[in-house]
Amino acid sequence: MTPRYLINPGFSTKIHPYADCIIIGSGIAGLSTAIRLSEHTIKVLTKSSFSASTTWYAQGGVAAAIKKPDGWKKHYEDTITAGQGLCDRKAVEILVKNAPEMIENLIEIGTNFDIIDGEISLTTEGGHSYPRILHAGGDATGEEVEKSLVSFTRELKKVNFIPDYFVLDILTSENRCLGVTGFDTKRGEIEIHPSSNVLISTGGIGQLYEISTNPSISTGDGIAMAYRAGAEIMDIEFVQFHPTVFRTNDGELFLISEALRGEGAYLRDCRGNRFMIGKHPLAELAPRDIVVKEMIKTMEISRCNFVYLDATHIPMSLLKIRFPNIISKLNENGLTLEKDLVKVSPAEHYLNGGIWTDYNGRTGIEGVFSCGETAATGAHGANRLASNSLMEGLVYGWRIYQNIGEKLKKSNSGQKETLSDLNKLIEKSKKEIRSSKVLKGSPMDIDTLILKLRSMMSQNVGILRNRAGLERAAEFVNFHIENKNLYDRKDIDALEFANMLTVADLIIKSALIREESRGTHLRSDFPERDDKNWKKHIILKKDKVRFKKVR
Ligand code: SIN
Repeated sequence: MTPRYLINPGFSTKIHPYADCIIIGSGIAGLSTAIRLSEHTIKVLTKSSFSASTTWYAQGGVAAAIKKPDGWKKHYEDTITAGQGLCDRKAVEILVKNAPEMIENLIEIGTNFDIIDGEISLTTEGGHSYPRILHAGGDATGEEVEKSLVSFTRELKKVNFIPDYFVLDILTSENRCLGVTGFDTKRGEIEIHPSSNVLISTGGIGQLYEISTNPSISTGDGIAMAYRAGAEIMDIEFVQFHPTVFRTNDGELFLISEALRGEGAYLRDCRGNRFMIGKHPLAELAPRDIVVKEMIKTMEISRCNFVYLDATHIPMSLLKIRFPNIISKLNENGLTLEKDLVKVSPAEHYLNGGIWTDYNGRTGIEGVFSCGETAATGAHGANRLASNSLMEGLVYGWRIYQNIGEKLKKSNSGQKETLSDLNKLIEKSKKEIRSSKVLKGSPMDIDTLILKLRSMMSQNVGILRNRAGLERAAEFVNFHIENKNLYDRKDIDALEFANMLTVADLIIKSALIREESRGTHLRSDFPERDDKNWKKHIILKKDKVRFKKVR
C-alpha cells in the first residue's frame, strides 16, 4: 500500500515563511496562474529549471476558435467527439468559450504567434473541423509560450522562484491544506513551506514508459503526492500515445507534429500504401486514438515496426516556414522532408486523466488545486483533442486564480489556523519517528528498477492491454511499492521511482476495472466500446473505487 509520505515531515529541519499560494511546477498552468496571482506572495517550486517543462516541448500549437466561420460551438463539438463519450460537457464548454480571451492574454504578455499577411496564421490537426491551431516559431509553439511566461514572471516582485527543488508531499489536517514538504536538492535539507493554498501543476507521466515525447522530469510526482494526501484520481487509464514519433540515429525520440498532417502530409504503410483512407472521413486527420489504432493494425499486418510519414508532395517553401525545427532534426539524421519518407511510430504523449478537479480547479482537499496535464477536469474524456492541452492550462489556471484571489481578499485567509495546525502536525510527526528511524542514504539499484518498470508498463499497460498483462504489471508494482527502503530517503531517483510506482499502480487498477475499449484505452480481451456499462468515470481514492456519471 502506498504510504502517506515519501519522507516523514518530522525529518524537516526548516520551516519557511508562509506564502499566500504555493505553485508546484513551472509550465503553462503554473506560470500563467502565478502571473495572475502576482499581487499576493507566491512561491513557484520546480524540480528542474523554470523552462524545463512539458510546455516547452509542445510543437503544434494551441487551439482557439478565433476566426469565423469557426466558433466555440464547433470547437466544443470536435472536443466532445474526440473524447469518445467521456467528456464533461460543462468542462469542455468552459475550455472552448474562454479560449479566444486566453490568446489575447498571451499576446499581452509578449507571446509572438506566427502571422501571415497581417493575420494570425491558423492550421489544423487531428479531429479539428476548422483551422484553429495557433502556432509560433513554425513548430516551436511551446518554446515561445514558455519563454514569454518565464520572462514575464521573472519581473514580478512577489513571485519567488525556487528551481531544482523536489516537492515531496502535500501536508493536510482534516482534509485542509497546510502547505508542502520539499527536498532542497542543493543543500540536502528536508523543509516545510506553509500555505493554505497549493496548486499542483507538475505535468505528465511519460517516464513510466520506454518511449515517450515527455522530458525526463515527467515522473507523475504531482499525481502521486495528491493521491497520498487523499485526493481523488479520475480517468487515469486513458494514456494518450502520439502517432508520429521519429527515432534519431542516436536513439533519441523526436515528436513530428500532427500539424504536418494538418498541412497535408500522408501516412503510408511500409509498402507505401495510404492506410487511413476509408478508415475515417478525416483520413490522416482523424482523432489521435483512431490513427494510433489503425497504425498498430497496419504495423502488425505488414510486419513492420513503423509507418511512413510522407510530406514529399507539399511545397518546400511552405514546409520551411512551418516546420524549421523538424526539418533541421531530420537533416541532422540525413533526411529531408522534400525527398524522404520518414519512419515514425507511436509513443506515450499525454495523460488524459489525473487529479480530479471541479470547474474551478479545486480538488477534494480544501485549498489544494490542480491544473494542466496533472489534472482531470473532464475536458479531454477518453482522448484529448490535439492542441487543447496548453489551452486547458490557461483557462483552468485563470479559474483557479479567481478562486484563490477571492479567498485571499477576505481578512481571515486562514494563515493563523494553518500555521497552528502545521506545528501540531510537525510535532506529531517527530514523535512518530522512533529513535531508530533515520533518513536513509545508501544506494539501491534504482536505475535498473526504473528500466524494469518502464518495460513492464510498455509491454502490458501501453496501447493494447489485456487482463493477463495488466495483472503481471500489477504484481511487479505491488511488490516494489511495499519496499520500505524506497521511502524516507534523500535520494531523488528513489523518490521519483516511488512516485512512478504509485502512478503506475493507479493506471493499472483503473485499466483492469474498465472492461471495454474506448478512446486511448484498448483492451484486446474487451475490444468493443460498451456505453451501457462503461459510460462513466472511474475514480480512485485511498484504495477505494467509485464511479461517476458523465455529465
Ligand atoms: C503535436 O504537435 O502534434 C502535439 C499537439 C498536441 O499534443 O496537442
